[in-house]
Amino acid sequence: MIKKEKSFIMEQQDKKLREQLSKIKHKILVMSGKGGVGKSTVAVNVAVGLSLQDLMVGLLDVDLHGPNVPKMLGARDLKLSRKPDGRLGAIKYSPNLKFLSIEPFLPSEDTAVIWRGPIKHSAIRQFIGDIDWGELDYLVIDAPPGTGDEPLTVAKTMPDAYALVVTTPQEVSLIDVKKAIKFCQKIKLRILGIVENMSGFICPHCGKPVDIFKKGGGQKLADEWGVRFLGRIPIDPRIVDTGDAGKPLIAAYPESTTAKAFEELVRNIIVATEEMKKDILEEKFMRIAVPISSPSKIESDPEKFELFAIYDIENNKILVKDVVKKAENQGLIDFLKEQVATHILLFDPPKDLADYISQNEIKILVTDTSTESPDNLIEDFLKERQLH
Ligand SMILES: Nc1ncnc2c1ncn2[C@@H]1O[C@H](COP(=O)(O)OP(=O)(O)O)[C@@H](O)[C@H]1O
Ligand SMILES: [Mg+2]
Repeated sequence: MIKKEKSFIMEQQDKKLREQLSKIKHKILVMSGKGGVGKSTVAVNVAVGLSLQDLMVGLLDVDLHGPNVPKMLGARDLKLSRKPDGRLGAIKYSPNLKFLSIEPFLPSEDTAVIWRGPIKHSAIRQFIGDIDWGELDYLVIDAPPGTGDEPLTVAKTMPDAYALVVTTPQEVSLIDVKKAIKFCQKIKLRILGIVENMSGFICPHCGKPVDIFKKGGGQKLADEWGVRFLGRIPIDPRIVDTGDAGKPLIAAYPESTTAKAFEELVRNIIVATEEMKKDILEEKFMRIAVPISSPSKIESDPEKFELFAIYDIENNKILVKDVVKKAENQGLIDFLKEQVATHILLFDPPKDLADYISQNEIKILVTDTSTESPDNLIEDFLKERQLH
């Protein structure tokens, strides 16, 4: 009995979460292989930069141990708002920018909190499901460094999120980026691109850029991995001051070289997110779901669709394959939308099912053999496409 009740609550939470997520056009997870490369700085300045372009923006700090966003925004005193329906709303920073971190939920700022993986997971889900963000063009998510629970939860909760990978020109950092890119592929996060932070130096006396370290590693790495290079941000001592003073540089010194660099990054991000959408329309990127009954067998009975092999395909190559279970009481379309599947591969589907799926803007691939393994079916499909 208790078990039933619990699953009902969780179902309601999932529903709220999905509703909220569907109102957010682009989700960007800012990540890096290691700390101190300027991830939070980039997240905050990009969020403010996007909001200055008349876009509706949310900024979510999912660092549960040491949230930086409220301080960097100079907004530690701002409170959560209460909506007319009783729900809490994200904190309003400006008419176009809302943000949230764990900070307002903690009894005092010095509280040391120990979070276990599953609690982290539910806290992050609640940040989105229980808090009203309204309609957003962009949600920028600042994750703690590395390849831990937080980025994983974000990827699982928002399968359509993109990763923005921050690096610095130093060799070690670039090695960390490779790790971060591999991690993204493993957890099916599409990579929006790479940003090279602390690239070159802005002289505090004359305000002009000086190249003291080597730069360009980020570009090379992006080329090597076939991902976009989105921009470089110089070392600028004012970044530290503005971070401490709580006024992001892009807003505090809009005429500076560094602010211009952030603006260019913002423009490139807008273009890149539109391109990522276009790649889906043009089928350069596909996420194909295949209902399976076992790893090597396609499930042909729609009543039994429960387990799905999911293939991410870019430029006719399989990037990753994953197996995902649909919740028992979740509808097929709900599930496919949540997974952001672009296609579904079915064995000889009944016409009403096929119609129902295509009405929901998910494309159907049909196979007339149920004996081939899903891997082979996908490989054959890709070979076939290559020929045409
Ligand atoms: N381009 C930059 N120029 C100068 N200082 C920077 C730059 N980017 C970040 N910093 C400083 O480096 C420190 C770490 O940045 P932060 O954004 O907190 O990194 P992360 O979130 O990756 O740990 C901060 O003190 C920040 O002000
Ligand atoms: Mg940080």
